[in-house]
Amino acid sequence: MAKDYVSIRVSTLRGDQKIDFDAYLKIDEKWILYLRQGDSFEGTRLERLKTKKLKKMYISTEDEGRYRNYMQKNIEMAYDDKSGKDIKTRSEIIQGAQQNNAEEVFERPENAEAYVAAKDASAKYVDFLVKNNDAVKSIVSLPNLDQSIAHHGVTVSTLAVALAEQLKLFDAKQRQLLALGGLLHDFGHYDTPIKIARPMRDFSKEDLEIYKKHPVEGAQKVKDKNHMDLAVTTIIHQHEEKCDASGPLGYSEQQIDPMALVTSAANTVDRLMTYEGLGREQVVKHLMVQEMGKYPLQYIQTLGNILKSI
Ligand SMILES: [Fe+2]
Ligand SMILES: [Fe+2]
Repeated sequence: MAKDYVSIRVSTLRGDQKIDFDAYLKIDEKWILYLRQGDSFEGTRLERLKTKKLKKMYISTEDEGRYRNYMQKNIEMAYDDKSGKDIKTRSEIIQGAQQNNAEEVFERPENAEAYVAAKDASAKYVDFLVKNNDAVKSIVSLPNLDQSIAHHGVTVSTLAVALAEQLKLFDAKQRQLLALGGLLHDFGHYDTPIKIARPMRDFSKEDLEIYKKHPVEGAQKVKDKNHMDLAVTTIIHQHEEKCDASGPLGYSEQQIDPMALVTSAANTVDRLMTYEGLGREQVVKHLMVQEMGKYPLQYIQTLGNILKSI
């Protein structure tokens, strides 16, 4: 009898743990066994898939339970401060898990369960970043090989939380929502007709007009989702605003929600790294020159220091 297959997300397959299921690729309607039970997704194997922008793999429906166990075990181990695993491996798994949480919400924004899973995970995520010295560095230095919006979301979320922690902004509940808002901030780019993963100078005038609308469009798409928190939808709506009122909504510093402003600063940094193709040193320079006056000076200095420490 022919096997049935279900898709799994590549972002959930990080780390050094052996898989206890077979993982397939679907090429020209054929199933190709890519990784066997007993192998792991370490190193180049996973990178190759990511550089091909491959987001989904497949498993046999018989292996669904085993896959779920693998995922759960992997994440639990990564969040466990006493697991003895190095910070790099833990960060890789946790980065993948957060990316997966973002992708789940992007694909099914109407699904309250997917949102709550991402929200619960965001509390754990903040804890991980705050308690482990090198976690921020480790997460931010993972290259966004497929320039995905979900990976960008994880980086923005990480930088926003790091900024809040260093400047002692917001309480624990707000930081959880800041992490979640950062993760989901570019929901308006999901399903966009334009290619956003390129430098802004390559955008045509028409593309730029469409681009500028993504915060408003994102906010409109989540307006009727009652399971979403107001803090999160506000971040989606205002995350491109800057203190000098040069953002798409033209809000002044006093009008911008404080969590959205922190997210905006973090977003500017990762936009430059991931989509404008600047190195970390160039980003620091850009912040000091081009972004001066667009964010509070402390934000610029703190983000600069984080980048210099990586
Ligand atoms: Fe954006
Ligand atoms: Fe963004």
